[in-house]
Amino acid sequence: MQGSANLNLMIKAARRAGRSLVKDFREVENLQVSTKGPGDFVTKADREAERMIREDLMGGRPTYGWLGEETGAAAGADPTRRWIVDPLDGTTNFLHGMPHWAVSIGLEHKGEIVSSVVYDAAKDEMFWAEKGSGAWLNDSRRIRVSGRRTMSEAVFATGVPFGAKKTLPATLQDLARLMPACAGVRRWGSAALDLAYVAAGRYEGYWERELSPWDVAGGILLVKEAGGMVTGIRETQDPLEDGSLIAGNEGLFEAFRKIIRNDS
Ligand code: IPD
Ligand code: CA
Ligand code: CA
Ligand code: CA
Repeated sequence: MQGSANLNLMIKAARRAGRSLVKDFREVENLQVSTKGPGDFVTKADREAERMIREDLMGGRPTYGWLGEETGAAAGADPTRRWIVDPLDGTTNFLHGMPHWAVSIGLEHKGEIVSSVVYDAAKDEMFWAEKGSGAWLNDSRRIRVSGRRTMSEAVFATGVPFGAKKTLPATLQDLARLMPACAGVRRWGSAALDLAYVAAGRYEGYWERELSPWDVAGGILLVKEAGGMVTGIRETQDPLEDGSLIAGNEGLFEAFRKIIRNDS
């Protein structure tokens, strides 16, 4: 499958940043770790990866806008297009030597993600999608959400916010309702990979609260193009902007959402 020029630029940038992250992985003594808040770490590796991605993407498309976790927002001459970048999603795993983290890049056009990549550099898995062209893994493997339709066989994933922010009680209540109904719930620590794994059919669904646009801009399109559903937990919530999101395969989405929303 051939991607657009923008997608190729994104893949190149994600690979370059991924190589740099793999070099820094497990070199904790050189990582210059600091915290942005309780449990919210940032390292030299996050900053360096974002610097590289910004150089590549803004060098290639100087008129586009920018939103990156570590460098913030910058308007571009073209107000309709914006890169949304998380250079290292899963910093806590990275710091603990756990190979479950990713580079996430979404290209937004008129408020909608049109191309995206999530790159798991430690496992060399490049998940990518373009609007209308499906979701893919590496060069040529088309991915699809899982076909499971039985709740008791289904596996879900979630994330719990850093430092137990205000939505922690809601997530714990969700778990109390969902866990007895399904086959298991995972908490891996990378929102971008959680969405990529739903897209690849590795688990049936994922939900989380208090996310930021850079956590999900790469993954939302993967799930949609893989035949899945993504919405806010409430209809009024935009999954990209409002930080609350629920994603899943078609067969179980409504039942899953009902449990998370506690609808009877
Ligand atoms: C975090 C991860 C984690 C999620 C957090 C995110 P970071 O991103 O995606 O899975 O639970 O809410 O902030 O800080 O490692 O890029
Ligand atoms: Ca972070
Ligand atoms: Ca993140
Ligand atoms: Ca990050």
